[in-house]
Amino acid sequence: MFNKRIKIKELLAQEPTGQEVTVMGWVRTFRNNQFVALNDGSTNNNIQVVIALGSQEEELLKRITTSASLKVTGTVVPSLGKGQKMDLNAATIEILGDSDAEIYPIQLKNRPSLEFLREIAHLRFRTNTFGSVFRVRHALAFAVHKFFNDKGFVYMHTPIITGSDAEGAGELFKVTSLPFDETPRKDDGSVDFSKDFFGKATNLTVSGQLEGELGATAFGDIYTFGPTFRAENSNTTRHLAEFWMIEPEMAFYDLEDNMNLAEEFIKYIIKYAMDNNKEDLEFLAQRLGEEEKQLPQDKRSEMGLLEKLEFVLNNNFERITYTEAIDILRESNYNKKKKFQYPISGWGMDLQSEHERYLVEKHFKKPVILSNYPKEIKAFYMRQNDDGKTVAAMDILAPGIGEIVGGSQREERFDNLLDRMKEMHIPEEELWWYLDTRRFGTVPHAGFGLGFERMVQFVTGMTNIRDVIAFPRTPGSAEF
Ligand code: 4AD
Ligand code: MG
Repeated sequence: MFNKRIKIKELLAQEPTGQEVTVMGWVRTFRNNQFVALNDGSTNNNIQVVIALGSQEEELLKRITTSASLKVTGTVVPSLGKGQKMDLNAATIEILGDSDAEIYPIQLKNRPSLEFLREIAHLRFRTNTFGSVFRVRHALAFAVHKFFNDKGFVYMHTPIITGSDAEGAGELFKVTSLPFDETPRKDDGSVDFSKDFFGKATNLTVSGQLEGELGATAFGDIYTFGPTFRAENSNTTRHLAEFWMIEPEMAFYDLEDNMNLAEEFIKYIIKYAMDNNKEDLEFLAQRLGEEEKQLPQDKRSEMGLLEKLEFVLNNNFERITYTEAIDILRESNYNKKKKFQYPISGWGMDLQSEHERYLVEKHFKKPVILSNYPKEIKAFYMRQNDDGKTVAAMDILAPGIGEIVGGSQREERFDNLLDRMKEMHIPEEELWWYLDTRRFGTVPHAGFGLGFERMVQFVTGMTNIRDVIAFPRTPGSAEF
């Protein structure tokens, strides 16, 4: 057996009492031909490996370069130096893999920019920033499963390839095995998808919700957590073409139940990361503080990252209706001084992210749940309110991010749903299976979708969504 190593995180939690251990990892720095800072990704903290002068061959020492991989066995003793509590006095050192320092692209001394690191995303995990971000991302993902599992939800894997457009927004990536030249066509010139792999037109899913509703109307409570795809040409710091979404769907829930669950859920996963990833979050808080020093005073956050997270945990989200939001925005000084790029034209308009951010960052200064939007700007499946104008929708807006959750109570009344589908030109034949849930034992039900990367951004304080997913897919970019 090769691997009897101890992870550095676990080792650093022990007391140095002369115990013999083996560690493996990648060299961060090598000083004075004597001190190796070795990192294995379990924590940003390195173990200091001490090589006694003359104890190792010159040839071997030359091969200890940045990012070379080592296996080190030795004894753990209290450190004589400052900055670490223990040293690993090396008895044997094995180079597992050399790293040519001349061409290794990450020179820590030069503080590589996030933009540069994005171009070498295959290596950026080896920096402290990305080490912390992706450990926190993991913790949040784990907390998602723990939250729902503890509540008795069933984790449902909804399909990646679908024949429907759940959101009706037309932002679909087509899935086809038809040839691009000599594409089979019907008499009218349109593509004949009956000749395609699935015998029909298919696409990558934009949401697992519709299938999730099928699960909820049998299990009661389900959630999905999977990749979703949107071919929207939005080159922003908050949009990806491939992102992960968590979509719980609950039978016997109305809009208020839905909001309560979403708020509890968000707080739970933040708290989980704060309890379990303190060190990483402290590092990220410091990083953000430094990044913000470059900004003009009025662009800096009022609170530090940890303070902000604490604040979110300890305060209720503000709950207002769309109609109230429009009034606030219309009356705002921002609007009166024409500071919005899109002026507040009145009731019925779709909110832009500048409006959402005004509400959370300037007006309420905390997360806001906006509800009861005009039906014209929301999807077909949302439950129609008695006023005939609005639907039982809710969006959660977070400071610095904007929309982080979108959800609604679903239209459970067969006739209302069918009427709305007809109005919105959604073909009934395509969704016969969805309509069946309203035919056979329909129930009030609700659900929401949390954009996982936006949540990771919120918790880690990373300003660009491309820096919280391992290999971002955005317009014009699908490297790695
Ligand atoms: O608001 P959306 O489009 O809602 C749905 O898809 C519903 N079917 C969810 C449900 O009720 N089950 O998307 C939900 C969330 C957004 O609030 C946002 O956080 C995230 O998904 N999101 C994106 N994240 C990154 N890149 C994109 N292009 C995103 N589009 C939406
Ligand atoms: Mg939305």
